Amino acid sequence: MSTPLPRWWMHDSGGLRYHFRALRYRGRLWRNFIDTLAAWQEAWHPPRQRLVVIGPSAGYCLSAGLLTRFEEVVALEPDQLARGLLPRRFRGVRWRFDDIDCFAPGGLKALAWHYPDAALLFANVIGQRMDEANATGMRDALREQLAGHHWASWHDVVSTARRPDQQLTARLSQDLPLESLLARFWRGGELPLVDHHTYRLMEGAAQYALWPLTPRQHHLIEWAVHAPAASGPSTAQAADG
Ligand SMILES: C[S@@+](CC[C@H](N)C(=O)[O-])C[C@H]1O[C@@H](n2cnc3c(N)ncnc32)[C@H](O)[C@@H]1O
Repeated sequence: MSTPLPRWWMHDSGGLRYHFRALRYRGRLWRNFIDTLAAWQEAWHPPRQRLVVIGPSAGYCLSAGLLTRFEEVVALEPDQLARGLLPRRFRGVRWRFDDIDCFAPGGLKALAWHYPDAALLFANVIGQRMDEANATGMRDALREQLAGHHWASWHDVVSTARRPDQQLTARLSQDLPLESLLARFWRGGELPLVDHHTYRLMEGAAQYALWPLTPRQHHLIEWAVHAPAASGPSTAQAADG
């Protein structure tokens, strides 16, 4: 049993405002981030023929190089406009739209059950759906329900109006306090921020980059990959840097 996805045009986590921002900023302001993210996505090689993308919007940050490797790509996306735009923007991809809400109660279990043979990609949606109250439960559910799947996610770690001092990327293979990671990007002074409660979402290596969503809103993004135990180490590089 699964909960059907809602449908919307406007929403805090996407919708018309997000499409306007993408139209305005993706050509220049988002360029470096999109290139970094494309490299991360293309370095991920889950041995599966089907990919499920959760929260693709119109694919502004998705890599065609990843999508075209799969025989079928299933999109789980409540945004009506995104559902119309996505197939037009990636004509070489065999799309299917399904209606499972994996963030509803029991939703991750339903996701795993409906797509036992698919790789799963959470496309910057977990950071919008996690908060202090549900973070532990959602982390546990991701770990338990998706243990047998190849899955990857990029997600907001923090967002802030303060412009970063360094335009770096970073790789971590071991635990580091969040403050120490933030200090690589913002040096000294106060850093008023929103914590999305996703830092170190998975065990093992993770990569980080800055996404200037607008000139006044900067997000630190984490990329992490999970592979089932029998599949060997994940493809996220293990070196710190
Ligand atoms: C911040 S946007 C990211 C969009 C896109 N992946 C990108 O990076 O440009 C989050 C997306 O998640 C979608 N979303 C929100 N709740 C969802 C749910 N329960 N299932 C699937 N997608 C969802 C929103 O509609 C929105 O398109």
